[in-house]
Amino acid sequence: MTRAFDIVKQNPQRVIIFDTTLRDGEQSPGCAMNLEEKIKMARLLDELGVDIIEAGFPVASPGDFEAVNQIAHTVKNATVCGLSRAKKGDIEASAEAIKPARSKRIHTFISTSPLHMKHKLQMDPDNVFEAVKESVTFARNFTDDVEWSAEDASRTEDDFLCKCVEAAINAGARTINIPDTVGYAMPGEYAAKFKMLIERVPNIDMCILSTHCHNDLGVAVANSLAGVIAGARQIECTVNGIGERAGNAAVEEIVMALRTRRDIMPFETGVETTKITKTSRTLSAITGFSVQPNKAIVGANAFAHASGIHQDGMLKNANTYEIMTPESVGLSESKLVMSKHSGRHAFREKLKELGFELGDNALNDAFARFKNLADRKREIFEDDLIALVEDEMVRENERIRFISLQVQAGTRGPQTATMVLSVDGKEAPASVVGNGPVDAIFKAIREIYPHEEAKLQLYQVHAVTGGTDAQAEVTVRLEEKGKTVTGTGTDADTLVASARAYIHALNKLLTKRSSVNPQTGEIAAANA
Ligand code: KIV
Ligand code: ZN
Repeated sequence: MTRAFDIVKQNPQRVIIFDTTLRDGEQSPGCAMNLEEKIKMARLLDELGVDIIEAGFPVASPGDFEAVNQIAHTVKNATVCGLSRAKKGDIEASAEAIKPARSKRIHTFISTSPLHMKHKLQMDPDNVFEAVKESVTFARNFTDDVEWSAEDASRTEDDFLCKCVEAAINAGARTINIPDTVGYAMPGEYAAKFKMLIERVPNIDMCILSTHCHNDLGVAVANSLAGVIAGARQIECTVNGIGERAGNAAVEEIVMALRTRRDIMPFETGVETTKITKTSRTLSAITGFSVQPNKAIVGANAFAHASGIHQDGMLKNANTYEIMTPESVGLSESKLVMSKHSGRHAFREKLKELGFELGDNALNDAFARFKNLADRKREIFEDDLIALVEDEMVRENERIRFISLQVQAGTRGPQTATMVLSVDGKEAPASVVGNGPVDAIFKAIREIYPHEEAKLQLYQVHAVTGGTDAQAEVTVRLEEKGKTVTGTGTDADTLVASARAYIHALNKLLTKRSSVNPQTGEIAAANA
């Protein structure tokens, strides 16, 4: 028996949350994370209470293997899972990478739709069927907890799907995943697939059925919930819904929908919902993918009541317009917290309260930046501290580091950036003229560390809090030979934040290694 199987056996209304932020999410363009970032996210997912963390695709590259392996060492509660195609080498790599985990799963998959078998795999159905049996049987040599996925299941013929599912269960798979790989299914249709399997596959009781929905038509969450109502007991999803193309089903939406509408969906998850906001914000800070303001649960406006009528109703009784409380997702109003008179001890205690434990060096750097900020900004809010500390954390172990910047800007020109960076521990200065201050800064970085082939794809500025003295949070996306990386930078000075964001992206570009996309088998454009 697997751990997930035991949980569902004890409580048949319990839904297993399988988080694939670090695999399906991370492999999408612009979402690549480095080792430290992946470990940080894995810790947060573990605290959030997801049951399974799909930590990556170990055979893809030494970097992916290392990340899955380190996550397996780190995670305390969740099962750690590695993805593998139906190939022995892939399965062996996953088995080795997840070895240190307290609880481990191997996830193996192959396409079963006529379109994928013919054009992508160039295999006939008989060979695919053999590969299903062989891959699951082989994976069972390493762990009892094997998941098998029928890629493009929603476009697979029912007879063939039933035959493969039955064989995978006989070979030892204890979770069977029915992905809507291309986000094509509609909720009624997707639910019917599960009902069909439950009716027709004789050994279906020996497995947990799982949903895995992409959001191409905007119904990934609706499909996942429809799957559960029809009998699935595992949902595969990602934080903020990141993932291939339009993304995957969003974990925060699924969990809050199940919690809020227990009246018609009497199911439970193990997720501690008050950790949702922190997990979402950290992922946004790491990847530079901010969520849209009107995004359900984690968007900046998700709990904001702007119209007069709504505000009036809220004051009389919050239930008039609020179906869940902001506190239930860990959202509290950003409080005014510190001033320039606050000392190191108070600073450390406040960071602890916000969930950050920094080592001595990182604490010293963050404290120096806090003092600098407090000199320039009248009021320091919790959001300011979170932005500052997260900015400090993503910078650990960087080869290229920001030291100083002076900019001449305005109508008089020439707009010039005079900058000092540290490259592998050595100081490197440059003074460069550009078409505006940001252009001059980015050119100065290019002069200090040439990287001609990288193209700037995105430059975006957000204010962390309100007011003209708010800190700026800048996002920079670079693309080089089809690979994209995203960097972020925060500072009270927008130009310094811009420099930090560009340097962050450049460091990520340097650590990027080539890897294989699990779905296409090709060297991926976006994998870290
Ligand atoms: O979307 C998909 O089909 C996948 C599989 C690898 C499970 O991500
Ligand atoms: Zn997927």
